[in-house]
Amino acid sequence: KESITGFPKDFLWGGATAANQIEGAWQVDGKGLTTAEVVRKAEDRRHGSMGDVNADTLQEAIADHSDVHYPKRRGVDFYHHYKEDIALFAEMGFKVFRLSIAWSRIFPTGLEENPNEAGLAFYDRVFDELDKYHIEPLVTLSHYEMPIELTKRYNGWLDREVIKAFNHYTETVFKRYKDRVKYWLTFNEINTSAWGFHETGAMDGDLSTQEQLQVRYQAVHHQFVASAIATKQLKEIAPNAKIGSMLARMQTYPATANPVDVQAAQVEDQKNLFYTDVQARGEYPEYMNRYFNENGIVINMSTDDEKLLKQYPVDFISFSYYMTNVTGVDGVEDGIGNMSLGGRNPYLKESEWGWQIDPIGLRVSLNVLWDRYRKPLFIVENGLGAVDELTADYKVHDDYRIDYLRLHIEQMKEAVIDGVDLMGYTMWAPLDIISFSTSEMSKRYGLIYVDQDDAGNGTLKRYKKDSFFWYQKVIESNGKIL
Ligand code: BG6
Repeated sequence: KESITGFPKDFLWGGATAANQIEGAWQVDGKGLTTAEVVRKAEDRRHGSMGDVNADTLQEAIADHSDVHYPKRRGVDFYHHYKEDIALFAEMGFKVFRLSIAWSRIFPTGLEENPNEAGLAFYDRVFDELDKYHIEPLVTLSHYEMPIELTKRYNGWLDREVIKAFNHYTETVFKRYKDRVKYWLTFNEINTSAWGFHETGAMDGDLSTQEQLQVRYQAVHHQFVASAIATKQLKEIAPNAKIGSMLARMQTYPATANPVDVQAAQVEDQKNLFYTDVQARGEYPEYMNRYFNENGIVINMSTDDEKLLKQYPVDFISFSYYMTNVTGVDGVEDGIGNMSLGGRNPYLKESEWGWQIDPIGLRVSLNVLWDRYRKPLFIVENGLGAVDELTADYKVHDDYRIDYLRLHIEQMKEAVIDGVDLMGYTMWAPLDIISFSTSEMSKRYGLIYVDQDDAGNGTLKRYKKDSFFWYQKVIESNGKIL
């Protein structure tokens, strides 16, 4: 039986993106400015710049009407290339395409009563095109961006008012697309709210570490509530649709077999799983209450909030998977990647950006999540950012990317054989896009090369890389040929 020896027949193979990294057209058809579009390109690719926004740099960004320093404003112009791009996804055999809706296309400031029809119509066109090829959309409601007005007025998710604004937006898009979208995600990598601005929309860079923790955990509480309300709305508006949480899964390993290290790794891991614990089980876990007490964090939470969380857990759990971390009491060598939270693992190789590559960790993660929640899982991001070279005859020989994806898909297959209920896999990203953490174009993830450089020069023409043809075979064989 195929479901025992490999992937189920209806396995959702595809690719994943985010509006602010692909669409461009940041000032077109009434769209408002977003938090993603005020983040400057990173000076240092190993450091990243996703959280470096304060009142001064915000002013400066708002006054700057160009896209020179803010590459997410231009993306790769999916807004005008979506037909061509979706045709290429269809050629690879995609069953699903993960995209996000830019909230500010629908509600430019987040505060309007009536939606912007031109914004809604754009996603209608995208869904029409996907439908033409029988590709299911998987839609993220909030992928690292919100209307900038909500930061200016409320300091983002720190204020409960933003819950209302968000759920006005979610209700609007659920009603509009209820017959077209079966799979929804609320907040992309919700755990990265612990890192600040890009997820919370709250400027807290000038605060002490303790104050920052207070702001970030309060902001994420509001996101939990907004996510539960969105789940409630969806159940009423489109009862057959499914909604999932989205976690940046980063398993932490102990540096040694010393129980002290094992326990320290468990604590780190709980800090990662906390978010899914709330969204899947519907309540704050005790270990987190202890952490809050010990760190002087007080979450302002009403009994209505608690009821909502309990009543509306997610249907499935999605996650991104790029790396694992290490912790140990005697210290570990520092990880140097811009998203690494722990130390360096001597057994692993790393990408040029310092991200530690760990395919077996994907199998471990799948088993951990399945054992813990017993809800269907969906890998909605996994991929390799690398420097690619377009040859004179317009080819890209990206064996390194094929190797990366193959090794991860092999482990994913093992996990399915272990018995994990896995709905699908959307690799990041089907085409080259602007990097989230550094806003570079030269950190390429795509199976399709996009002719644009870091400064925004280029024809924006699309070229198929070697990995395009490889992934086409993977999908065609339902993961048998890797
Ligand atoms: C995830 C994000 O963290 O990683 C994506 O959800 C992002 O938006 C991806 O693009 C890869 O990160 P980066 O910084 O290499 O683009």
